[in-house]
Amino acid sequence: MHRIILDTDPGIDDALALFLALASPEIQLEALTTVCGNVNLDHTTRNALALLSLAGREDIPVAAGASRPLILPHGDAASVHGLNGLGQLQLPEPRITAHPQHAADLIIERVMQAPGEITLVAIGPLTNLALALHKEPRIARAVREVYIMGGALRVPGNVTPAAEFNIYCDPHAAHVVFHAGWPLRIVSLDVTHQVSLTPADFAQLATSLDGSVKHAILQMTDFYFNVFQAEIATKAFHMHDPLCLAATFLPDLITWQPAYVDVELQGTLTLGETVADFKQLTQANMQAPVAVDAAGFRALFLERIGQA
Ligand code: BDR
Ligand code: CA
Repeated sequence: MHRIILDTDPGIDDALALFLALASPEIQLEALTTVCGNVNLDHTTRNALALLSLAGREDIPVAAGASRPLILPHGDAASVHGLNGLGQLQLPEPRITAHPQHAADLIIERVMQAPGEITLVAIGPLTNLALALHKEPRIARAVREVYIMGGALRVPGNVTPAAEFNIYCDPHAAHVVFHAGWPLRIVSLDVTHQVSLTPADFAQLATSLDGSVKHAILQMTDFYFNVFQAEIATKAFHMHDPLCLAATFLPDLITWQPAYVDVELQGTLTLGETVADFKQLTQANMQAPVAVDAAGFRALFLERIGQA
C-alpha cells in the first residue's frame, strides 16, 4: 500500500491524475496539498475541493499552500488549462472547505508522524515541498519516496525552449528539492511526452463512466483538444501528471537511471532548465527516466478510469 500526499495545481492533467489515484487500490490518498501553478492558489484549491466532492471523496483533506513562488512572480498556464484551470468546466460548489493547516505544515506533520511511510507526489511547482524542507529538514530522512513531475532532461522544454513548466514556475524551489538528499524520482517530459491519449481514447472512456466524472473528463479534454487543434498535428493529450502518479505504485512502467540533475537559476535564456549529468561526474541525486512503457500506461489508465 502506498500512502500518498499529492501536491497539485489542478490543472486538467492534475485532475486526471487525481481520478487515477482514487481508482487505484494500491494507493491510500492521505491528503491533497495545493500550490499556485497552472492557475492561482484560490482556483487550484477550489478545484481540488470540487474534484473530490464530484468523486464523493470529501473524506480526503485539502490543505492550501503557497500562493506565489519563492522568489519569482507567478506566471500561470491558463492558456493551456483555461482561466479556471479545468478547461472552463463549471463544477458544483464543493461541499467541503480547506483544511486549516498550511500545506507545508500538513506535509511535515504527516511525514514525521509516520517515518518511512509517506510518499510525496508533486505534480505542480515545487514551492510547498521547498517550504516544508526549509521548516523541517528532517522530513528528508522520514519520507518514503518523493516523485516529481517536472523537467526536460534530454528533450526541449514546453514553456521555453529550455524549461518545463513546473520547474520554470519556481526554479528556486526545485533547487531546494533537488538538493535535499532524499529518495527522489523525476518524471520529466522525456517520458511524459511519450504517453498521450487521443479523442478516441476519451470517447471509449465515455461509454463506461458514470455521469458526473465522465462529463468532467470529457469537457476538460475537449477544451484542450479545441484550443490546441491548430497547434498539434495529431490530436493528443499529454498525460504528464497521471504518468507520475502511476509510477509511484508501478515504477517499472519507467526505466530509470541514476543521474545528477541541477536547475539553472541564472540563465537569461535558460532559466529553469534541468541539466542532467548521466555520466555521474557528480554523485547522483535522483533517479531519472530513460524509457517508458507507453502502451502499458495507456492500458492501465483506460482500465482503471473505465471501471471507476
Ligand atoms: C506540467 O505543467 C502543468 O501545466 C501540467 O499540469 C503538468 O504538471 C507539464 O509540464
Ligand atoms: Ca500539474
